[in-house]
Amino acid sequence: MIQRDACLARDRDDPLAFARERFELPAGVIYLDGNSLGALPKSVRPRIDDVIAREWGGDLIASWNKAGWYTAPGRAGAKLARLLGAKPGEVTVTDSISVNLFKLLVAAARMRPGRREILAEAGNFPSDNHIVESAARMLGLAARFVPAGEIAAAVTEETAVATLSHVNYRTAAMQDMAAVTAAIHAAGALAIWDLAHSSGAVELDLDGSGADFAVGCGYKYLNGGPGSPSHVFVAERHQAAFDQPLQGWFGHADPFRFDDGFARAPGIRAALCSTPPMLSLLAFEAALEAFDGVEMREVAAKGRALCDLFIALTDERLARFGVTLATPREAARRGSHVSLRHPEAFGIVRALIARGIVGDFRAPDAMRFGFAPLYIRFADIYDAVLAMEEVIGTQAWRDLAPVEAGAVT
Ligand SMILES: Cc1ncc(COP(=O)(O)O)c(C=O)c1O
Repeated sequence: MIQRDACLARDRDDPLAFARERFELPAGVIYLDGNSLGALPKSVRPRIDDVIAREWGGDLIASWNKAGWYTAPGRAGAKLARLLGAKPGEVTVTDSISVNLFKLLVAAARMRPGRREILAEAGNFPSDNHIVESAARMLGLAARFVPAGEIAAAVTEETAVATLSHVNYRTAAMQDMAAVTAAIHAAGALAIWDLAHSSGAVELDLDGSGADFAVGCGYKYLNGGPGSPSHVFVAERHQAAFDQPLQGWFGHADPFRFDDGFARAPGIRAALCSTPPMLSLLAFEAALEAFDGVEMREVAAKGRALCDLFIALTDERLARFGVTLATPREAARRGSHVSLRHPEAFGIVRALIARGIVGDFRAPDAMRFGFAPLYIRFADIYDAVLAMEEVIGTQAWRDLAPVEAGAVT
């Protein structure tokens, strides 16, 4: 049996232990939902206080230049690029994942005229596929959905663009980006990767994998705060031809000339549309300081070790209650969260939250636990699984006031 002391020893030896000090974490809470909304980095509060008091409150409009607001999307993107295995000029921070996916789908389809379809994954995050359907309808293309993991086998010379998640939001299954991208390219199509559950959690090599385009999330493992803007990657080799549909003044080569006609900005700036939500963008930029001096190789290795421990403890203590694993066992094939299944998943998650252990529920029977490697400890996992053993063993959800099943948290 795995002992708590052994987990404490692993925390003492953890080379990333210092990073936890970079977060404000509520006392008495084990927060296993950083894959949905990341914790608050200590760097954010003073930065936003300063933005409000000095940059907005004092310097007002001058801050667009004086405080570098205007260049903040590209600056944050350049800082983030290291974590994605991209060049600084290939990433910017703007809009939401869904909006950026729409831009990328249309831009990619415009680069493959004459092809007939957009290929996507059934069971991907619903918003992605809502966007796929609408973009396809608008472009006069078919939207074809195949099961996750089958894109490489399904892509044909009819496919203009294929879009897929690197780490599946439900199961945490991780795809081989280089191999799938190569298969998509072999059919002459382009690849758009959704990195929502990858950026800041697993090691990425967008350039080395040959990725064409990608979108990622600011508010999950990158800890940018609720509604934090998303990031967009456009490979350097595609930037000259990158003709995205939301052509607005922030993507203009010279927006302050106020020309009637549109002249596309060079480089990654062409992915922008309009005035950024500056407080959120600057909070995101400040949040990235939590990764200063941290290598994604170390982050990914700790994420794998945390998930391995959680799975081993689940086998030891929860399997006898009928809890099953919905995530691949093999560490190389998963991201940094683990999904478990149980018919009482909703009640279990509620009872855990009542005990200060925060995971989330995804209908109909899945419990997701995210292990953000910067601030989760091995002992947290031990304590969480023991609490779950007690919750299931005593059917503790029966003591809770009834509510409608839905997303918990
Ligand atoms: C995989 C995935 N794609 C897309 C989204 C939607 O993101 P947004 O609300 O920024 O459009 C999410 C949100 O959680 C997600 O997990």
